[in-house]
Amino acid sequence: MQHVIGYDLARGLHIIAVIAWVAGLLMLPRFYAYITTAQPGGELEQTMLKAARNLRAIILTPSLILAWAFGIFLFATYLVADWAAFPGVLGTVPHWFWGKLILVLGLSGYHGFLSAEGRKLAAGQRPRSERYWRLMSEVPFLVAIAVVLLATLEP
Ligand code: HEM
Repeated sequence: MQHVIGYDLARGLHIIAVIAWVAGLLMLPRFYAYITTAQPGGELEQTMLKAARNLRAIILTPSLILAWAFGIFLFATYLVADWAAFPGVLGTVPHWFWGKLILVLGLSGYHGFLSAEGRKLAAGQRPRSERYWRLMSEVPFLVAIAVVLLATLEP
């Protein structure tokens, strides 16, 4: 059968999607910090609300989907290498991978949380402080460090 896309190309595209996703997750809470302190109805508030909406629609949602799609493709490639051994082959998946998966599910949940908070901000609610959003903007970086080291060191 002709291969549509090779394993290493999929790995590269996975990493590119992950870079865009994490970059977006680092930026969005910073936009929320500006929105929180901006004068209601003012120019800064409107500009930042639009920037946050565009960031979610153009960068965050597509890169989330692509990071998952290529990640699942890579994992499926690992499983189907010995399809006859399924589902026993799941027992051979290294533990670090399950750790990575839990962290990535957490990152996806954080993404969903940011989307819900974005809708509140757009509706004029300001339930959280600027300091809260500045602190939250560091979270994805810490998780990304752990995920990348799990994937590369394979402890
Ligand atoms: C969205 C769900 C994800 C799934 C299902 C997934 C799954 C995978 C799989 C199966 C591989 C191939 C492993 C190999 O060939 O050694 C891989 C590679 C990789 N992933 Fe993910 N991944 C996901 C998200 C992420 C995230 C969020 C990051 C970083 C923050 C990340 C970083 C990496 C890196 C750096 C590699 C290359 C590792 C290497 O080749 O040594 N992945 N991923």
